[in-house]
Amino acid sequence: MPTLTSNQVFANRYRLIRNIGSGGFSEVWLAADQMAGDLEIALKIYAPGQGLDDQAIQIFRDEYKVVFYLNHPNLLKPSHFDINNGRPYLVLPYCASGSVMKMTGKTDEATVAKLLVQIGGALQYLHSQDPPVIHRDIKPENILADISGNYYLSDFGISSKLRRTLTKSMGRNQESSGTTAFMAPELFQAKRQVLPESDIFAFGTMLYELITDELPFGQIGGAMLMNGAEVPDMSDSCSPGLAEIIGKCLNLNPINRTTGTELVKHGKTYLETGKWTAGNQKEKAGRKTMARSDEKNPVMNVDKTLTDSYYGPTDKTQNSILLHQKANTLLKQNLQKEAWKTYFEILDINPDDSEAINKINELKKVFTKQKAKQKWKNTFWIILATISAIILSTIISIIANANS
Ligand SMILES: Nc1ncnc2c1ncn2[C@@H]1O[C@H](COP(=O)(O)OP(=O)(O)OP(=O)(O)O)[C@@H](O)[C@H]1O
Ligand SMILES: [Mg+2]
Repeated sequence: MPTLTSNQVFANRYRLIRNIGSGGFSEVWLAADQMAGDLEIALKIYAPGQGLDDQAIQIFRDEYKVVFYLNHPNLLKPSHFDINNGRPYLVLPYCASGSVMKMTGKTDEATVAKLLVQIGGALQYLHSQDPPVIHRDIKPENILADISGNYYLSDFGISSKLRRTLTKSMGRNQESSGTTAFMAPELFQAKRQVLPESDIFAFGTMLYELITDELPFGQIGGAMLMNGAEVPDMSDSCSPGLAEIIGKCLNLNPINRTTGTELVKHGKTYLETGKWTAGNQKEKAGRKTMARSDEKNPVMNVDKTLTDSYYGPTDKTQNSILLHQKANTLLKQNLQKEAWKTYFEILDINPDDSEAINKINELKKVFTKQKAKQKWKNTFWIILATISAIILSTIISIIANANS
């Protein structure tokens, strides 16, 4: 039940028209902005009942500053932020076609391709920030569509600190950090790692659900993979190329997952050619899926030996895996100096890391070549400038002689 009521004027400005829905921490309303000729907007009001204390509000203010400078055409960006009686609220464009939740089981491959380009693009953008912005709550309810059929990612830039604070302030006893069904395996570890790849896993789970009308791992999410489960077969529901792309989003190991950049590429190719670039689907897993409503979840039993073998027995190993991953991303983005620094960070953890040593040597050669090239360029420009100066002074003296 919503806390606020229709026709109520919120913050002396917004007339509430209809409650669109309620999340863990907020109510979303379709409202008319009376200051803007009754313009229809969506109003997202946090802690709508009791409001928040000053400390929690300060965290909100700080996070809004981060969101303010994020710009991508497929991010649903708030146009205004304010606080009313301790209740932080955001003014958002109203997405009249609602969330993709209603598309589950009815999504064709062209629509999936569009989602790959638009939402994959938004993820690519968030993950390329320094430090990367991790969404943490990718699910159908947070992907909204406008009447022109464009998709937008909402609720980005909410950190775990803010989630914890909201949980405490609202008197809830369990932190909501993503819906379990969409949570990647690494989030179930004792020392959990929240990675950009965790968003890719959730996105893959969502695409799986949109296509098959079922969740790949029921309500248990990525923890199933840690128990030895495989990605269920999708061959009855979509073409092998698409199944392979989704399978790669759902890989147990974050390093092997697809990136936002690759998702965009796959989507664009499909929209241009009507074919998926990914190859043939691997061997059928033939596992049964569990529907969203399945309440009979087996007791979650995360196999620790299995996770250790994937993530390494110590933090050290885990950190160096993540640093390798970071360095690879930096190299792909042509940020060689940053990658170079990252390889040295890896050597601080493990001075014998041969891959890091090789990469440093390769980069050394690249830098030497770049320096030599730059030296030649500088010499070329100096010679060119000297010749131009000589020619110019000759022309000037010829003109002066001709005049005298
Ligand atoms: N700008 C908007 N336009 C149209 N519908 C919206 C808009 N923003 C949110 N919604 C819808 O309003 C409902 C409530 O959203 P809200 O973000 O509060 O909760 P949630 O995303 O379902 O869960 P949570 O945020 O707790 O993870 C959702 O169904 C969401 O799709
Ligand atoms: Mg939401």
